[in-house]
Amino acid sequence: MDKNVIYVSSDIKLDNDSLLLNESLFHNANGYIGVRSAFEEGYPQGYSSVRGQYINGFYDFSQAKQAENLYGLVQEKQTMLNVADTQTILIHFDNEVFSMFEGTVIKSRRWVDMEKGTTGRHVVWRSPQGKEVDITIIRMASFHQLSLFTIEILIKSINFTGDVMIESYHNGKVTNYFDPADPRTADEGFHYLQPNSCNIKYGASYITAKTSKSNLEVCSCVKNLLSGESERQFIVDDNNALCQMVTSMQSGETAKLIKYCVFADSLRVSDVSAHAAAQMKQALSVSLSELYQLQADYLSEYWANCRVEIEGDDELNTALKYNLFQMIQSVSKDEHGNIGPKGLSGEGYEGQYFWDSEMYIQPFFTVTNASISKKLISNRYETLEMAKENACRLGHKKGALYPWRTIMGKECSGYFPAGSAQYHINGDIAHSIVKYYLATKDVDFIASEGAEIIFETARLWMDAGNFYKGAFHINDVTGPDEYTCLVNNNYYTNAIAQYHLQWAAKLYYSLRKLPAFKRMQKKIQLRNEEISEFKKAAAKMYLPYDEKLKINPQDDSFLQKKQWDIATIPKRNFPLLLHYHPLHLYRYQVCKQPDTVLAHFILEDAQSLETMRNSFNYYEKCTTHDSSLSGCIFSIVAAKIGQRDKAFRYFGSSTKLDLLDLHRNTKDGIHTANMGGNYMAIVYGFGGFRLKESGICFAPMLPKRWTGYRFSICYDERRIAIHVGKEKCKFYLENGKAVSLTVYGKEHLLESKLTIKMA
Ligand code: BGC
Repeated sequence: MDKNVIYVSSDIKLDNDSLLLNESLFHNANGYIGVRSAFEEGYPQGYSSVRGQYINGFYDFSQAKQAENLYGLVQEKQTMLNVADTQTILIHFDNEVFSMFEGTVIKSRRWVDMEKGTTGRHVVWRSPQGKEVDITIIRMASFHQLSLFTIEILIKSINFTGDVMIESYHNGKVTNYFDPADPRTADEGFHYLQPNSCNIKYGASYITAKTSKSNLEVCSCVKNLLSGESERQFIVDDNNALCQMVTSMQSGETAKLIKYCVFADSLRVSDVSAHAAAQMKQALSVSLSELYQLQADYLSEYWANCRVEIEGDDELNTALKYNLFQMIQSVSKDEHGNIGPKGLSGEGYEGQYFWDSEMYIQPFFTVTNASISKKLISNRYETLEMAKENACRLGHKKGALYPWRTIMGKECSGYFPAGSAQYHINGDIAHSIVKYYLATKDVDFIASEGAEIIFETARLWMDAGNFYKGAFHINDVTGPDEYTCLVNNNYYTNAIAQYHLQWAAKLYYSLRKLPAFKRMQKKIQLRNEEISEFKKAAAKMYLPYDEKLKINPQDDSFLQKKQWDIATIPKRNFPLLLHYHPLHLYRYQVCKQPDTVLAHFILEDAQSLETMRNSFNYYEKCTTHDSSLSGCIFSIVAAKIGQRDKAFRYFGSSTKLDLLDLHRNTKDGIHTANMGGNYMAIVYGFGGFRLKESGICFAPMLPKRWTGYRFSICYDERRIAIHVGKEKCKFYLENGKAVSLTVYGKEHLLESKLTIKMA
C-alpha cells in the first residue's frame, strides 16, 4: 500500500448488511451537511437503506413518551432531521437502466480519499442485453463551501452506442429511520419535514420544507449539468422534482453529469430560498476541478496540523487516518451545531450531542485546530440559559446543568438514571474549557464566554452536593459507566467536580480585572463568597478510597455488589444492555466503560501511580467495553502504568472498530467519540502527551511492533512535530517561539530541534 495515497477501498458487496454498513463508512460530510453513501440508483425492493442527508443542528421535536409521568420528566426530545434526498440518479442506456443487481458487475470498487476529501465508486458493468459501460462516481461535501454537496458521474461507453437518459431526483418527501428494538436509535417513524414549495428556477429545482414543531425551515437546491445534453424536462409535484436529461454516445465516448446540491437552513440564515440561490450561484461560479482543488487545499492544511503517522504498520496507519478524517467531516464549523456520536453519517442517537464532544473529541481539536474547539464551546454557551432551566427542572436553586443529550439545548434523555443523572457533564464541559485556555491562552474568549459557563456550572455542584462530617459529598448521580446508576460519591464525578471548582477559583483570581470578566461577573451576580465556597468544597471533596484493595471504588456502594465473571457470559449476550434489565446490571460489579479508569487518565495528579495501577487491574476485570468509548481509554491508562502490550492491543481493536464493524452497529453511523479517543490513545497514551497548567509534557514509548510514529501538536501559537523512534524521540519547532517542554519529567527548551533518548 502506498503510504502517501490514503484511501480505504473495498469491493462492493451487495448483501444488505454490507450496503448499510458502507452507507456509513463511505458517507460524505463537512460538519454542516452529511450524506450517507447509498447507491445513486438505489437497491431493489426488499432491501433496506438509511438513505439519509443531514444538516448539523437542524432538528425537530417529537414526543418522548413516559409511561409513568413523574414530575419533571422529559416530555419532548429533539431529532436531527433527514432533509431532502438529492442523491438519487438513474442512468438509462436505451431501454435498460444501470443497476448493480442486474446484468454482470465485471469490476467494482469504492473508496474514500482522505487527501482529496472525496469518495468514489468505480464499476464496469454489462447489462443483461450485453451493453458494456465503465462508470465512475465521485462525491464531495465541500469544506470550502459548506452548503455544497456534489456528485460527478463519468460514463464511458465500452461497446454501447445510443441514447443515455439520466433521471436525477430531488425528493422532498423523506422520513427518518427508526428501530423500535434498539434503544440507541429512534423508536418510531415520524414525518418531521413537510415540503411547502417545490419549483424550478433558472434550470435548478428548489424545495423548501418546514419542520412540524420546531418552526425551522430548510431549502435545498439542485442543478444538473450534463455534457452533450440534447433534451431536458422537469417533472415536478408538490414534494419532488425530477430532472430528465438525454445525451447520446458512441462506443468509446464519455459523458459527464455533475449534480450540484446546496442547502440553507433557518437556524443560520433568515431567507433560506434566497440563500440557497446565492449558494448555488457561488458553486457554479468556479469549475468542479477548482472545487476539488480547494477541497484538497483545505485538507492539506488540516493534515499539516494533525497528521499522525505510524511507521511499521500501514494497515493501522490507514485506519487511524480514517478516524482523523472523520473528525473533520463530522464536526460543526459554526456555533449552531456540535458533533454527535455518529457525526453526520447516520441517525444513531438521533443526532443528539453528548459529553463525547468535550471528553473525547475536543481534546483532539484543542491541540490541532483550536478554532474548532472554540466553536464547540460557543455552542454550549449559546445554550447556557437552557442549562439553567434544566437545573431548575431538576429542583436546583442555582446554577446550570447541561443536558445529557441534546441538539438545541433542552434535555432529550427519557431515561434519567442513565441520562440526566450524569451530572459529570458539567465538569466535562468545564474541563474542556480549561484545556482550551491552557492550549491557546485565549483570555478574551474565556472572559467573555468560557468563564460564565464555568461559574454557572460550578454553582450547580454547590447546590447538588453537601458537607457531611466535614467532607463534600455528591449523592444520587451517575458516572460515565451506564451499568451503575444513581450512586453516592461517584469517584469520577467527585474528582471532576473538584477540578472544576478549583479552576473556577483560579480563573476568578487571574481574570477578574479584565473588563469582559467584570461584565460577566455583574451579569451573573457572582459574589466573592461564592469563590470561597468553591475552594472549600474542592478542598474537602470526598474521593472514595479503599484501604484494603488500595483502589478508588467507583462509588460508595460499588464494592458491596456481587461480582460477575464476564468470561462466563455468552458472547451473544453482548452488549449487555440489549439482553439484561438495567436493575440486574446495577446489582453487579460490571461496567460498560471506564469510569474510575477514565478519571485516572484525565485527573492523573489526583492519585498515585500505584493506586491507578491497582484500579486499572481491578476494573479491567469487570468492564465489558460495550461502549465504543472504552478501549481507547484502557489503552491510554495501560500505557501510563507501563503495560505496553496491553495498550497496543486495546489501541488496535479500538482504531479499527468502525472499519471492521466490531460493534456491529456502524450501519447506524460511525463512532466519533471512539475516533477522538483513538487519537488520544496514540498521542496521550504512547506519546505520553499532557496539557497542564505548568505547560506541555511528553513521555513517549514505542509499541514493539512499530518502528516509529510521528504526530504534531499546536500549542500557544506554535506547531511542534514529534517523531518517536526506537532509540530517540525528536521534537521540532515548526513555527512560533521557543518553548519549554517536559520530557520524562525533565524540563527542556525547544528552540528548533531537540533530541532525547527514549526511556
Ligand atoms: C455511552 C455514553 C456515550 C453514548 C454516545 C453510550 O453507549 O455509554 O457514554 O455518551 O454512548 O456515544
